[in-house]
Amino acid sequence: METNMIKAAQAITQSRLTVALTGAGISVESGIPPFRGPGSLWEKIDPTEFAHIDAFMKNPARVWEVLMGAMKEILDTARPNKGHLALAELERRGLLSAVITQNVDSLHQKAGSEDVIEFHGTFATLVCMECGSATPSADIRLNALPPRCPCGGIYRPDCVFFGEAIPMDALERSREFASQCEVMLVVGTSAMVQPAAMMPVLAKQNGATVIEINPTPTPLTTGTSDIFLKGNAGPILTRLTEAIPIPARG
Ligand code: OAD
Repeated sequence: METNMIKAAQAITQSRLTVALTGAGISVESGIPPFRGPGSLWEKIDPTEFAHIDAFMKNPARVWEVLMGAMKEILDTARPNKGHLALAELERRGLLSAVITQNVDSLHQKAGSEDVIEFHGTFATLVCMECGSATPSADIRLNALPPRCPCGGIYRPDCVFFGEAIPMDALERSREFASQCEVMLVVGTSAMVQPAAMMPVLAKQNGATVIEINPTPTPLTTGTSDIFLKGNAGPILTRLTEAIPIPARG
């Protein structure tokens, strides 16, 4: 096994507090396109035109038609992959305390992860902008756009648009984990969007070992990451989990 994989497995074994930060890359193997890079969402759709809160408020029907409708179709049927499952297994084995995810796809929870901090909210729930009631996204049909609550108000997804604040609780818990963890596993994020991209930097400043998994180097790779495991999340996380010995009982 290559040195970096052994080093990463040892760091996790010895760590008293390990957290993961995940991005769109971990869900690519579940058939969800990433936001940046070849074949990505923002290559086809201009985020300032469709993913900004001002765009949604101005023309919700259009944002539902171009962006949200397509996302809902993919997310309604997406299944967790080996990367999500490996993180859930690390949590079950007591080796991972929480997953901070920028993803809105609920795939960590579907894989069995219990402590998931949804940094950018979730697409699994729609919220009425009029009466505030919440409803599962999967229950809503998009026959007429924008989708509406029985009260007549327009539904928005419970996720963070550009121009909106990160949910306070998610931000506070993430900062706390980042400053206290001994290992941070950074999986499938381009580290281009703040404040999520600051979490590994904060972890590093507080003495943590940063392990990054990505097929492509990111702005974190040279200055922040201690160990770079190059490759796709599914196979790398599976091998990493297998490389951590299960303690003998008794
Ligand atoms: P990006 O799309 O910016 O980056 C995806 C990263 O995943 C890239 O670094 C890829 O190299 C990597 N990648 C691709 N395939 C992979 C695989 N199979 N395994 C592991 N990594 C892989 O996604 P994020 O960094 O998550 O925000 O983007 C951050 C935020 O930008 C999103 O949460 C979203 C977006 O605008 C909001 O919606 C507010």
